Amino acid sequence: MILPIPSLLTEHAAQAMRARLEAANAPWVDGRATAGTRAARAKQNLQIAEDSPLARELGLQVLAALERHPLVASAVLPRMVYPPLFNRYDVGMHYGDHVDAALRRPPGARTTIRTDVSATLFLSPPESYDGGELLIDDGGQARSLKLPAGHMVIYPATTVHHVAPVTRGTRLACFFWMQSAVRDDARRDLLFRLDQAIQALDARHAADPALVALSGIYYNLQRMWAEL
Ligand code: NI
Repeated sequence: MILPIPSLLTEHAAQAMRARLEAANAPWVDGRATAGTRAARAKQNLQIAEDSPLARELGLQVLAALERHPLVASAVLPRMVYPPLFNRYDVGMHYGDHVDAALRRPPGARTTIRTDVSATLFLSPPESYDGGELLIDDGGQARSLKLPAGHMVIYPATTVHHVAPVTRGTRLACFFWMQSAVRDDARRDLLFRLDQAIQALDARHAADPALVALSGIYYNLQRMWAEL
């Protein structure tokens, strides 16, 4: 499921993050630093050094926003989140078709994360740059995403995707991966739709006893499918 998450950050918070990334002393390095061999051939962008204090500080802000957003918990059922990374595409930069690596160990961490869900948090206002769309293969059709600053998209890490070349301005974004308690995208999708339907019913008919049965089914499907 490709799901936009509106307003993960307020416009103001996205702007403050941009200002930090645009500062003259921001530690930008070649984006190939975190790409596998095959992906590195397709990748042409810049990233904030993964182990820098700036990446850690801004990453923590993104993680705090993730925890506050109700759609993320419902759609991802996150178990582990890779420390957020930040990238920049200037004119001519792009990232060709690739699939994100399945297993990633954050620097200094003891555990490896299985990347079930990929996330891109857009930080630049769309009108400030041309090109730079995130294109995700959605059952043979390309889904194009270019969201307002502070909005995020989550998508299955199993998909082929690319970032189109930027032809004007600069595209700043934050990206990371999550390991879900439910590995399979189709199962996560069902659980998400069921949870959303239960919440909508609960808002209108909170006293209906059928809601107890429905939420029981939701939890018991989680019990059947979750790996911890
Ligand atoms: Ni990718």
